[in-house]
Amino acid sequence: MKTLVIYYSRKGENYVNGSIKNIDKGNTEIAAEYIRDAVGADLFEIETVKEYDKSYMTCIEEAKAELRENARPELKAYIDDISAYDNIVIAGPCWWGTYPMAVIT
Ligand SMILES: Cc1cc2nc3c(=O)[nH]c(=O)nc-3n(C[C@H](O)[C@H](O)[C@H](O)COP(=O)(O)O)c2cc1C
Repeated sequence: MKTLVIYYSRKGENYVNGSIKNIDKGNTEIAAEYIRDAVGADLFEIETVKEYDKSYMTCIEEAKAELRENARPELKAYIDDISAYDNIVIAGPCWWGTYPMAVIT
């Protein structure tokens, strides 16, 4: 069984235990690595050409605008073929109640 984890995760400012802190590794990335270690999965990180702001408050406004526009932000890389995989896991944070628009892309 081959598993691919496709994930988006944002470094920078994030809420950690109720206050805003700077994190070097996003929460979803940590979860994706757990899955990789548990089942020997490959990882594919979704990365946007235009990065979201490091500031949490600016980022949430950028993300809200993208959601309203139903945007499909351009990605740095795309997957051409997933036929080698039996299981696909799609992982990302909750942004305004749904996936970041980059995951929809
Ligand atoms: C733009 C943005 C929007 C968010 N919207 C929500 C939300 O609607 N509901 C929620 O519970 N958390 C929300 N959060 C908090 C994230 O889901 C949470 O911090 C998550 O762990 C981030 O994952 P990551 O570190 O992998 O990027 C939001 C965070 C950001 C940056």
